[in-house]
Amino acid sequence: MKMAFFSKRTLLLLLLLVLCVSAVESDIGVNWGTVSFHRMSPDTVVDLLKDNKIGKVKLFDADPTVLRALMGSGIEVMVGIPNDMLSLISNSPSASDLWVSQNVSRYMVKRGANIKYVAVGNEPFLTSYSGQFQSYILPALTNLQQSLAKANLAGMVKLVVPCNADAYESSLPSQGAFRPDLTQIITQLVSFLNSNGSPFVVNIYPFLSLYGNSDFPQDYAFFEGTTHSVIDGPNVYTNAFDGNLDTLVAALSKLGYPQMPIVIGEVGWPTDGALSANLNAARAFNQGLVKLVRSNKGTPLRPNVPPMDIYLFSLFDEGAKSVLPGNFERHWGIFSFDGQAKYSLNLGNGLLKNAKNVEYLPSRWCVANPTRDLTTVANHFKLACSYADCTTLSYGGSCNGIGEKGNISYAFNSYYQLQKQNAKSCEFDGLGMVTFLDPSIGDCRFLVGVSDGTNNSLGFTLSGIRVIFLLISFCGYQMFVM
Ligand SMILES: *[C@@H]1O[C@H](CO)[C@@H](O)[C@H](O)[C@H]1NC(C)=O
Ligand SMILES: *[C@@H]1O[C@H](CO)[C@@H](O)[C@H](O)[C@H]1NC(C)=O
Ligand SMILES: *[C@@H]1O[C@H](CO)[C@@H](O)[C@H](O)[C@H]1NC(C)=O
Repeated sequence: MKMAFFSKRTLLLLLLLVLCVSAVESDIGVNWGTVSFHRMSPDTVVDLLKDNKIGKVKLFDADPTVLRALMGSGIEVMVGIPNDMLSLISNSPSASDLWVSQNVSRYMVKRGANIKYVAVGNEPFLTSYSGQFQSYILPALTNLQQSLAKANLAGMVKLVVPCNADAYESSLPSQGAFRPDLTQIITQLVSFLNSNGSPFVVNIYPFLSLYGNSDFPQDYAFFEGTTHSVIDGPNVYTNAFDGNLDTLVAALSKLGYPQMPIVIGEVGWPTDGALSANLNAARAFNQGLVKLVRSNKGTPLRPNVPPMDIYLFSLFDEGAKSVLPGNFERHWGIFSFDGQAKYSLNLGNGLLKNAKNVEYLPSRWCVANPTRDLTTVANHFKLACSYADCTTLSYGGSCNGIGEKGNISYAFNSYYQLQKQNAKSCEFDGLGMVTFLDPSIGDCRFLVGVSDGTNNSLGFTLSGIRVIFLLISFCGYQMFVM
């Protein structure tokens, strides 16, 4: 009877409040890249995110199948504009309007996608791009900001520019400064970010420091203490992440923005394809990082102020990525391509949980036919590996020790799965054969592909479901307004 003290409306508000409070997710998000031969259905991925209480995702484009799956999930989204679109958007206000309406406004409906950020370019200042994207950044930001304003989204959606850590440098964090060739453009960028209440987004990779420099102290890349602390006046740095972050803080301070909020757009550790890339190192790094961030300790230059948000790189392995940076590039996932946790990791809500209801292709593999002479196989091997992913075979990789025949079988199978187990793709002039016995050896896993649920026959049904979904959303909105 006490209940009578509360009106229905108050109860509803209380209920909403409870729901909202319990829905406050970790400030640790993930990058969801899709450069893979084996893509799980986006709905399965969104369920995986929800099961793991991962409340933020960063995308590298604005894939409609991904954004549709995120609708109604409440998950905070950063959509991305690829570098190769920057020229168009910087030159054309109408292209900018169109991008915003097609890739943002359209999803910002009741029970739509919770888009909070648009990443304008991805590491556009990388030294290896030789400045080719630099001049587009400010004009693109200006156009997009106007497009957002026209769409009444300027208050809700912030523009950011994910920066590579080679945009600034210094041997001591307190001396941090942006690269001289970037001073002018970064000065304009941070002024823009500041006036729009946007954070500075930076990608930090101690793994790359270790991989690229044989003198880099291994233990300084991790968080368990080091015999190579960096002493910077009164400050002592025991890990590369903090040292790097404070170098950025110092660089921003020099430009007059000592308080600018910082978001880590990418950070992580790969598990395969290089000596220091393995499951134990990846777990140690990511768990150490999560612990550090969750402690709210901050850094010597920003005590008690950890980065606003952190997006782990990455959610999945992406077997179709370029290996230009190294063979490890396809192995950054905390989950393998099929949504299985690679190692135990606690992001603050218990250990990672595997994806449910993953649709695999049938349990069969393509291997080298043991009865055949394999002396003529070299070209088949090369061709298979030029399409499919064979990076685990490389030095330091999980399949490096499986022998010559093992190598060939691995290559055949990678190619066969990539071709969705098309029978012809296991021929290799009679050198290949299909087997129903899993050829995996020790840590070396021979994969079975996943079905991404995008069969043509399904296309129509999906758009049909979408229309119904939009109708329901609209009705829900009407009820909400009334
Ligand atoms: C929206 O984003 C997608 C994916 O990044 C892109 O292919 C498309 O061109 C964008 N739309 C417009 C109008 O720019
Ligand atoms: C297997 O392939 C990898 C990558 O091409 C190579 O490094 C390794 O030496 C090969 N192993 C054998 C036994 O041929
Ligand atoms: C896609 O097609 C394959 C082969 O026709 C079938 O085995 C699979 O179940 C289909 N997947 C879906 C999601 O319909």
